[in-house]
This record gives sequence, structure tokens and C-alpha cells, in this order.
Amino acid sequence: MAQYLSSKITKPLTLTDLLDMKQRGEKITCLTSYDASFSAVLDNAGIDVILVGDSLGMVIQGHESTLPVSVDDMVYHCANVNRSRQRAFLIADLPFMSYYSATQAAESSARLMQNGGATMIKLEGAKLDIIRFLSDQSIPVCGHLGLLPQSINQLGSYRVQGKAKTDAEKIRQQAIDIQNAGASLLVLECVPAKLSKQISAELRIPVIGIGAGVDCDGQVLVLYDMLDIGIGKRPRFSKNFLKDAHSIENAVLNYIDEVKRARFPAPEHSF
Ligand code: KIV
Repeated sequence: MAQYLSSKITKPLTLTDLLDMKQRGEKITCLTSYDASFSAVLDNAGIDVILVGDSLGMVIQGHESTLPVSVDDMVYHCANVNRSRQRAFLIADLPFMSYYSATQAAESSARLMQNGGATMIKLEGAKLDIIRFLSDQSIPVCGHLGLLPQSINQLGSYRVQGKAKTDAEKIRQQAIDIQNAGASLLVLECVPAKLSKQISAELRIPVIGIGAGVDCDGQVLVLYDMLDIGIGKRPRFSKNFLKDAHSIENAVLNYIDEVKRARFPAPEHSF
């Protein structure tokens, strides 16, 4: 199968590689995966990061939100993905209520790393004490700001965050705090492109956007959204990469190419 040109490295990518990419202005490509077969397709195509997202609660398990996902579910899917991964950096989500205390967060993260093979865990919100505690235990942390799907029952709907000036400033400050607490990566979901551009320029850690405009240091999409398969409605910020590609492998290669060349997301996928 074809491989994206800049993905000659076959050894697993490290955090240092991702930081170097930010520094030299090379966009970081990320897609979600939940099983060994898709993981092999993404890895062979040259994706930089695979995220075992708790979005699996919706796209794999058919729930209406990510809330029912357990640590057991995450470990199971992460281990499946890890078995066929060679080069991609592997992030796994801490699911809802698996990090309400620092010790519980450390225990959940340890399971994802020791049994699931994750190299980093991701958690939603500006939970600074927990981020600090995890990074003190040598657990690499990815923050997640903007739209927080685990807070859907407080938010009421999946909508763009940070449109008002005060909300934008709050997200910007939280991003800085998360970096200072020890996070090594940040996902920004569904925020105005102007805000994510500012945050990406201000932070030294890489910022991966989803529905956050083209100026982030990298992009992530839910695999099932970009292949346009599944039960739910596809979000506006996603794109059907399978439509003109005729194979899943080509769809992934096209996604990598468009992200690397800053062609995706286009203005119509941004807010
Ligand atoms: O769970 C997930 O897939 C995610 C992405 C939407 C970033 O967190």
C-alpha cells in the first residue's frame, strides 16, 4: 500500500518528534481508531497519531453520548489498536468519571498504558491538579478544551464554544494553564478558527484541532465521520474523504495529504 511521503520513519514516533514537527511547521495528522484492522491501515498510510477516542461509545457501541464508555472498554480497544501499530503515536481517552480524583486518574491511566499500550492519555477540561499529578508520575497528558463531549448533559447540545469574547479568553487562559500544569499536547474541539490560531501560536506544545480551523499544529477527525459511515449525522467540520477516493487506504492518504498541505480544513469546515 502507498505511504505518505514524509512518513519514512518506521520506528514509533515520540513526543519529541511531535514537538519537532510543531517547531518546523509540519502539520501533525491524527485519526481515531478502535481496532487492529483500521489501525494497520492508518499506520501503513503514515498517520502520525492514532487516538483511541471515547467517541467509540457512539460510533462503535451505538450510544447517544460518550458517557457509558468504561475504562475496560478503552483498554480493550486500545490494546487491539496497539497490536497493529508500528509508527503512530498512540493516545487513549480517559472515559467519563475515570479521573475524578488524582489517584483514580493515575490508576485508569496506568491501565491504558500497561494493558492497552497507550503512550499518552487524554482528558477533558482544565483539570489542572490532575494533569499536574499525572505528569509528575511520568504519564504524558493531552488536554482537551472547547467542546467537551463528556459534559453534554451540562452543555445541552454539541455546539461551537468560545464564540463570545469572555468565553474565548477563558479557553485561551485554560490552554496556557494546561500547558503549565504539564500537558504535552492539547486538543481543541469546535472553537472559532481565530481563537485556535491564537492559542496554537501562543503555546509551545502542539495543538491538534477538530472543527477548529486550519491554523492548529495538527488535525484530528473521527475515522467513521471522514469515511462517512455510521448511524449519526456527520458534523459540519468533517469531510467525506472516501467519496472520491474509491478505497479506505486512499481516503486516509488523501486526508494526510490535505492536512499536511493545510488544504483541510477549508473555510467551510471551520467556524
Ligand atoms: O473521542 C474522540 O474521538 C475525541 C476526538 C473527537 C478528539 O476526543
